[in-house]
Amino acid sequence: MTDTEALKRRAAERAAEWIRDGMTVGLGTGSTVRHLLDVIAERRAAGEWAGIVGVPTSEDTTARARRLGIPLATLDERPRVDLTIDGADEVDPQLRLIKGLGAALLREKIVAAASAELVIVADDTKVVQRLGTRAPLPVEVDPFGAAIQVDFLRGLGAEPVLRERDGAPVVTDGGGRIYDCRFAGGIADPEALERALLMRPGILECGLFLGMATAVVIAGADGVSVRTR
Ligand code: A5P
Repeated sequence: MTDTEALKRRAAERAAEWIRDGMTVGLGTGSTVRHLLDVIAERRAAGEWAGIVGVPTSEDTTARARRLGIPLATLDERPRVDLTIDGADEVDPQLRLIKGLGAALLREKIVAAASAELVIVADDTKVVQRLGTRAPLPVEVDPFGAAIQVDFLRGLGAEPVLRERDGAPVVTDGGGRIYDCRFAGGIADPEALERALLMRPGILECGLFLGMATAVVIAGADGVSVRTR
């Protein structure tokens, strides 16, 4: 395991301390959450957490959790989620986040909004003073007329790039497309930006998660720290 993967594993182990048997647990997406899924599977194999049910935030997490034998439900079946544990691409001092480099932002945000608690797991490279200085902001758009969003996003100060893989646009689990948006100097006012983005027809979601995280577990070379709101 590389040093970074070891840090992610440590963050996942610490965040797993929030889990209690019988909980409905939102399962985020990404490489850090993969460690969490392993931790859950190990604890279940040891006879713990027989009563937990996971609500996955992506097809990728669904497939991995199934392979690990973690019981799953949809959000329709379990609309009250006790706790969601998810990764992030950036975390600022107010526990505001950028998420979505794994393209699962829409479902992640829906599940996070249905959760009593949102615990974020990350290694310390994700900590920033200002959002948008390290990661681009993913903006998910409807494929219908997706190209007309470019000028709109530029008008908000972004430099948008359509996310592609193997020469074709990345298609999210819900069928959307993603523009990764860079902002020179970072995002000055994340709340105002989120409002402007979400009022625009055709923009389905953005990767700003503001006022949602209740705790952030950060793993670094010096150990694991927990920040709460
Ligand atoms: C998925 O869409 C993202 O929001 C991930 O949670 C985020 O990109 C963090 O992923 P890693 O744990 O792989 O860095």
